[in-house]
Amino acid sequence: MLTIDEQISKIREDFPILNRKVRGNKDLVYLDNAATTQKPKQVIDTISNYYLEINANVHRGIHALSEEASELYEQSHKKVSDFVNSKFEEMIFTKNTTESINIVANGLEDILSKGDEIVLTRYEHHANLIPFQQVAKKTGAVIKFIENDDNYNLDMQSAENIVNDNTKFISFPHMSNVIGSITPAKELTKLGHEYGAMVHLDAAQSVPHMKVDVKDLDVDFMSFSGHKMLAPMGTGGLYGKEELLEKLHPFLFGGDMIEYVSYEEATWNVLPWKFEAGTPNVAGGLGLGAAVDYLENIGMDRVSQIEHYLTKHAMKRLEELDFITVYGPDANSRGGVISFNIIGGDNGMFVHPHDVAALMDERGIAIRAGHHCAQPLVTQIMKLPATSRMSFYIYNTIEEIDFAINSLVDVNKMFN
Ligand SMILES: Cc1ncc(COP(=O)(O)O)c(C=O)c1O
Repeated sequence: MLTIDEQISKIREDFPILNRKVRGNKDLVYLDNAATTQKPKQVIDTISNYYLEINANVHRGIHALSEEASELYEQSHKKVSDFVNSKFEEMIFTKNTTESINIVANGLEDILSKGDEIVLTRYEHHANLIPFQQVAKKTGAVIKFIENDDNYNLDMQSAENIVNDNTKFISFPHMSNVIGSITPAKELTKLGHEYGAMVHLDAAQSVPHMKVDVKDLDVDFMSFSGHKMLAPMGTGGLYGKEELLEKLHPFLFGGDMIEYVSYEEATWNVLPWKFEAGTPNVAGGLGLGAAVDYLENIGMDRVSQIEHYLTKHAMKRLEELDFITVYGPDANSRGGVISFNIIGGDNGMFVHPHDVAALMDERGIAIRAGHHCAQPLVTQIMKLPATSRMSFYIYNTIEEIDFAINSLVDVNKMFN
């Protein structure tokens, strides 16, 4: 068995982009994986092979290319549904988590009415907040928020106080994209179900990083993005329990999603196609299947192990620096996302994350700065203008993390 460092070196061979230079002749250090990950050769080859050899529309033609494209597209659905332990019918391909959540929220317009309650958490990404704000406006439903504890972990006591017989829908992230905390998804789902509520899991930051089993979690819906798990841009998935997807109103109407059409009306296709109107992103869908193959070949337990190894090292090094404030839980109860700020060096100065990110970028290091599409959390709860964020994936190395942290020491010296 390879050591973790040896395995990372081997994985890196599949990602040619990691060898490129940026900003003159600087080695690229890519630590913005929560935004999107890089793509391995295997995924890129799958996409180019589709366009070089197969390109045709799916589910329409009787000709050879269309048949091949349809078969591969369906095989890809099967791989992705197996990956999270769902049935084939229960896995819809979308363009990202945002689209998946909008499909669910749109369906709620028929189901919710005045006085019904939607429960969310304080650390929603905008994608898991705004669609529900809109549904609440249209239906008269009310949104309630589960509070965090002082370490930004979800407070189950607060959840128990808030969820009640009026709660019809609960949605929460499996892992926060700002502070890396992991929610007790199974417990929260059970609580929702005790009150008859439907539960949606925003798994944008968990499906790429850990084994996620929808049957075990028992969530009713789950959204994730392919592009955050080595797959092409414009790919994602929505899982929904079959009986709920049957009841849910489609979001987009048109070709492919219908069974029978007259001038007056139409009936809907079987699942999952009822929610995949129009020509889909076939190349992207095949790329998503190839990404799943790639991750399964490593093993999701090993993926989590690699990330934990990197996160633990980064947390230890960051905690040694008195001018760095890291937000969120300790290394053992978080994923590979670390938000931090430079505050209180010798001059006690807060260095704006945009300055930090720009100075890191000059050295070839890609980190994220801002509110990370979770503005209410950062500005209203953490009471900050922004944070810097490093996020890791299976191809990052200890050397890259050390280089990034040593660079933070230099950045601090420039200001404090
Ligand atoms: C927790 C979480 N939810 C939702 C999203 C939205 O993902 P996408 O932009 O792929 O739709 C993100 C993206 O960063 C995220 O981190």
